[in-house]
Amino acid sequence: MTVETSAQAAYIVAALLFILALAGLSKHETARLGNSFGVAGMAVALVATVALAITSDISGLGLALLLVATLAGAAIGLYRARKVEMTGMPELIALLHSFVGLAAVLVGWNGYLHVEASPGGEEITLLTVEGMLGIHSAEVVIGVFIGAVTFTGSIVAFLKLSARIKSSPLMLPGKNLLNVGALVAFVALTAWFVIAPSLWLLIVVTILALLLGWHLVASIGGGDMPVVVSMLNSYSGWAAAAAGFLLENDLLIVTGALVGSSGAYLSYIMCKAMNRSFLSVIAGGFGIEAGPASDKDYGEHREINAEGVADLLTSADSVIITPGYGMAVAQAQHGVAELTRVLRDRGVTVRFGIHPVAGRLPGHMNVLLAEARVPYDIVLEMDEINDDFAGTSVVLVIGANDTVNPAAMDDPASPIAGMPVLKVWEADQVIVFKRSMASGYAGVQNPLFFRDNCAMLFGDAKDRVDDILRAVSASAPAVAGR
Ligand code: TAP
Repeated sequence: MTVETSAQAAYIVAALLFILALAGLSKHETARLGNSFGVAGMAVALVATVALAITSDISGLGLALLLVATLAGAAIGLYRARKVEMTGMPELIALLHSFVGLAAVLVGWNGYLHVEASPGGEEITLLTVEGMLGIHSAEVVIGVFIGAVTFTGSIVAFLKLSARIKSSPLMLPGKNLLNVGALVAFVALTAWFVIAPSLWLLIVVTILALLLGWHLVASIGGGDMPVVVSMLNSYSGWAAAAAGFLLENDLLIVTGALVGSSGAYLSYIMCKAMNRSFLSVIAGGFGIEAGPASDKDYGEHREINAEGVADLLTSADSVIITPGYGMAVAQAQHGVAELTRVLRDRGVTVRFGIHPVAGRLPGHMNVLLAEARVPYDIVLEMDEINDDFAGTSVVLVIGANDTVNPAAMDDPASPIAGMPVLKVWEADQVIVFKRSMASGYAGVQNPLFFRDNCAMLFGDAKDRVDDILRAVSASAPAVAGR
């Protein structure tokens, strides 16, 4: 078997491993296994690709560059992955998407320089004879366009998510017209480039796409960032697939299509979770700094201490915990898991209610709870638990804010109006863990904090959970077997 055929066989194995990885990652119980499949698939793909390059007519310099780039990339990747905080994952992912976009642009430009810009060259002659030159040119221009949109879009997402620039949307006059105009111009320029490829046309397409990517994400408000992250995930997949066509690499095409379609599906799920249409997310404007609703006087809030919460919990029949971004910041998940164990040992029914956009990345809370070994069967999605808050003795809102905001349902003027939320206020008693009365990610005041059945437990969520654990342990166990 030649190296070429072995590499093709390895590519099929890698593609299958990637499909198994996606299947595994879709459930808590199999997520670890899914991750291992993904790592194995990438290892097979890398070895096959490097072996192919080594056995082709690569120059000594090319080989050295390949090895240096592989080692440097692996070292930086390992270092960043070990160092990154869970709360910093969205911006790291956005940055990684920008690399995929940039790679697609470089592959596209390389394709142009080797073929269209080299008249009389071997490749252009071959493609012309086969009647495939037009297809190659279309691949170049489409790959460069998707790559450049992904590149600048991901950089703006990175800057917004890491709070290096403001997350409020850029509202240029006629912004929808600008986006549609850029798309129409792209279609026209593509047709032109296919008929008569030229350097200046490719430069115009690249600049147009860079500006469009920047504008698309800059005009999306903070509240819609969850969708943007998954949307850019999808774009990066299509950019990789486009690069795969140019490089005639089947694995890149398959992997790109898997990432592109799973990212698109995730965007759809996110939009559904936030009751937003995909087009209105692209059109932007959601998550603008709170309007008049935030100036409303909601009255006084009530405070409680850890001992008071411990009393409520030990005399409760049922407890639901709704975690949010603050639990991730405080790294309170281990204490929360321990509190869950202690309460269940005392006969209290404890369950978790997870909002689809709680935290800062899809599945953020599920990952933290799995890491702290909370049993999967008591971790329920919003739709599964939302009708159970009525009749629940105590709800612990640990570092969540926007995802439990009743204004989303009650106040049509609220910037998050229409977003489905966890109906925690229907429980007998709600305890909110946070450090201050500050608003959440969307910058919107939360009327929940002022309701009669709600009390605030101020401080770092981890410290407060530890205080409650101490107080619960110090109190005599309740009647067992309830
Ligand atoms: P948020 O609305 O972001 O609120 C988190 C709360 O945690 C804040 O009010 C903060 O209040 C509190 N907090 C922060 N650090 C804390 C600590 N150490 N101890 C205790 N509390 C702490 O959270 P959420 O309910 O999870 O909602 C998520 C928001 O992020 C949504 O608006 C969503 O659209 C957006 N978003 C989600 C994603 C994805 S994909 N999940 C991606 C990007 C954006 P204090 O400062 O007063 O403590």
